[in-house]
Amino acid sequence: MTPEQAFTEAMKFENRPNPYPFFDELRKTPVARVTNGIYVVTGYKEILALIHDPRISADLRNRPNRPNRAQTDPSNGDGAEIEAELLEKYGKDPMMIIADPPDHDRARRQAMRHFGPPHSPDVIPNMEPACVRIVNDMLDKTKDKKRMDVVDDYAYPLPVTVICRIMGVPLKDEPQFHAWIADMMAGAELGPDAATEEGKRRKEKASASRIGFRKYIIQLVENAEKKPSEGMISKLAHDDGPDGRMSPSEIANNVALIFIAGHDSTVNLISHCVLTFLRNPGTIDLLRRRRDLIPRAIEEVLRLESSVNFWPTWTALADIEINGTTIPSGSPIFFMYGAANRDPRKFRDPNKFDLEREEKESLGWGAGIHVCFGGQLARLEVNTAVEAFLRRVENPKLVIDPPPYRRNALFRGPLHVLIDVDGVRD
Ligand code: HEM
Repeated sequence: MTPEQAFTEAMKFENRPNPYPFFDELRKTPVARVTNGIYVVTGYKEILALIHDPRISADLRNRPNRPNRAQTDPSNGDGAEIEAELLEKYGKDPMMIIADPPDHDRARRQAMRHFGPPHSPDVIPNMEPACVRIVNDMLDKTKDKKRMDVVDDYAYPLPVTVICRIMGVPLKDEPQFHAWIADMMAGAELGPDAATEEGKRRKEKASASRIGFRKYIIQLVENAEKKPSEGMISKLAHDDGPDGRMSPSEIANNVALIFIAGHDSTVNLISHCVLTFLRNPGTIDLLRRRRDLIPRAIEEVLRLESSVNFWPTWTALADIEINGTTIPSGSPIFFMYGAANRDPRKFRDPNKFDLEREEKESLGWGAGIHVCFGGQLARLEVNTAVEAFLRRVENPKLVIDPPPYRRNALFRGPLHVLIDVDGVRD
């Protein structure tokens, strides 16, 4: 199989439940050129070296000949479509994830001032009682059921409620923003899946929903500007810190980023935790006995089933020679976290769920200056959800394996995880 073929197969929706055999093929060349001049990096140490290399940029505006959306053909499976879409969406005053220093560092500082240490050390710990209450309320609701969907009944409500509270987004708007975000997510496929009639319809729906969502976020920012209120949106809109205030479009872009990143990947990790524990007999009993192993189990699930399958916005700013390959200046670079997290040169027996593993760190949270902004919050939420599940859900059994997956090539997670249970304890 050539790297192009392996990449196309790994991106296909039908392979979303198990892209790993194709990632193994792709990793035979840890830095490989695929279609349209894109370099995909699947080796752990190669990603780590490149992500700390000042000769790469996260800012899409640094790509020469960057594709115009109207000229891209999604059926090529080349990723140009996604790149063009990202540029169109976020090109002006970009959100921090596609900004370079010094703007990136300034925006991250401005946002972190209202989210975590050193200025706001209590925001996340203060959420713990609410997290415990939310997961227990959800389990109370499923008490009389013999079957539950881990995604809809359990994994989704916790992170969405918490991020609404932290940011000051009204929870009553959930049905509307949930529908927009679901459409936007389903529009991000690559290759043949995007080229079908249905794929084109999904893209159109995603574009319409993106406009709706964007207007909604801008409205929230404008309301907060007029009338200060609780939450991070208002704090960003009235920021009086040493870095000053972000521009209105930068506030809107970063609010959209933190709001979506602040719940979507967490849902996928909670769902993957339950799925992985049930696929590996004995794990639930072990974790019930050894609760101290729960944080390690969560990190191991994230390594094995990366919520962020890959990140596509990097560009080489110079010719970069790495492991026998030269990435020419201007080339798009995709970091394939899902593949690198199973690199056998880094992880012994990489396809195994192993709680004794010595190599504990993974690229599940990214690395370098763009390493996940919300890892501390996500860990609190996933720990709380896993602990309550283990304590209260009796004899859970998977109904369908593999479960159906959500449409989205970047953010990987099940659509539903059905389980049968004997009951839910008090
Ligand atoms: C299990 C849950 C999560 C996972 C697996 C995850 C994963 C990641 C990864 C891999 C990146 C790096 C992407 C890149 O290479 O540029 C990232 C960045 C980011 N994440 Fe998360 N994330 C999670 C939860 C959260 C939460 C809860 C928040 C916010 C409350 C958040 C906000 C962000 C932001 C703002 C960035 C961009 C940081 C920057 O560019 O400096 N994430 N995340």
